[in-house]
Amino acid sequence: MLRGMNVTKTFGGLTAVDDVSFEIERGEIVGLIGPNGAGKTTLFNAITAVHPPDEGSIVFNGTELTGLKPHEIAQEGIARTFQTARTFNESSVLENVAVGAIFGNGESIETAETRARDCLEFVGLGEYETEAVGSLNLVDRKLLELARALASDPDLILVDEIGSGLSPAELEELTERLKRARKERDVSIIWIEHIMEAIMGSTDRIIVLNQGEKIADGTPEEVQQNKAVAEAYLGGVEV
Ligand SMILES: Nc1ncnc2c1ncn2[C@@H]1O[C@H](COP(=O)(O)OP(=O)(O)O)[C@@H](O)[C@H]1O
Ligand SMILES: [Mg+2]
Repeated sequence: MLRGMNVTKTFGGLTAVDDVSFEIERGEIVGLIGPNGAGKTTLFNAITAVHPPDEGSIVFNGTELTGLKPHEIAQEGIARTFQTARTFNESSVLENVAVGAIFGNGESIETAETRARDCLEFVGLGEYETEAVGSLNLVDRKLLELARALASDPDLILVDEIGSGLSPAELEELTERLKRARKERDVSIIWIEHIMEAIMGSTDRIIVLNQGEKIADGTPEEVQQNKAVAEAYLGGVEV
């Protein structure tokens, strides 16, 4: 479904993503981990053309993404959630999610609202549709981000550190929603988390970045036993 080949992104003298190649199959939930500054978010930014890659190729459902604009990539079927929830605090929960449907799918206001309502129900926020986004707690804001991503009817969702700041029970709830989205909405997911344990039990495969390079790509068990991964985490700022 998604194939990156030799993707490189530099910022000045810093190579944030260094010659990284990867593949995501339809229906997979793939974890993307690595210490702080490993290049995880930069890889998402390269895929979505927020910061297009300097070199390499990214092909999605047979379409070359490099050279496309962010909204064109959204319309190809890639949605994302952000590390810091980028919600519009004054507007209502429903309006926030409807924006996802309009941006990603070019829908009319009415169909966007219908779709937004359906996605809010799906993540369990149906009863909050008229509330201001600013009144939601952290886990509900993350569910809102997920609903907004789903509202664009994507084939692939890029999830950036949706688990940070949550209790184990809240993380479990989010994980269940992501798994249900895969099953019932037919989406594939690439899921960035800084902490490996958070996604060990809920991903089919894990890709590990360190200092911009891909150092491992395998099942959670393989990655957990990988020496280079252990060293990268020990050498990093946080474990
Ligand atoms: N827009 C940018 N301008 C300059 N440097 C950046 C930018 N985005 C990321 N970087 C740098 O690229 C490296 C990788 O960052 P990032 O992809 O955010 O890491 P991660 O998400 O794995 O923590 C870091 O050294 C970071 O400071
Ligand atoms: Mg990041």
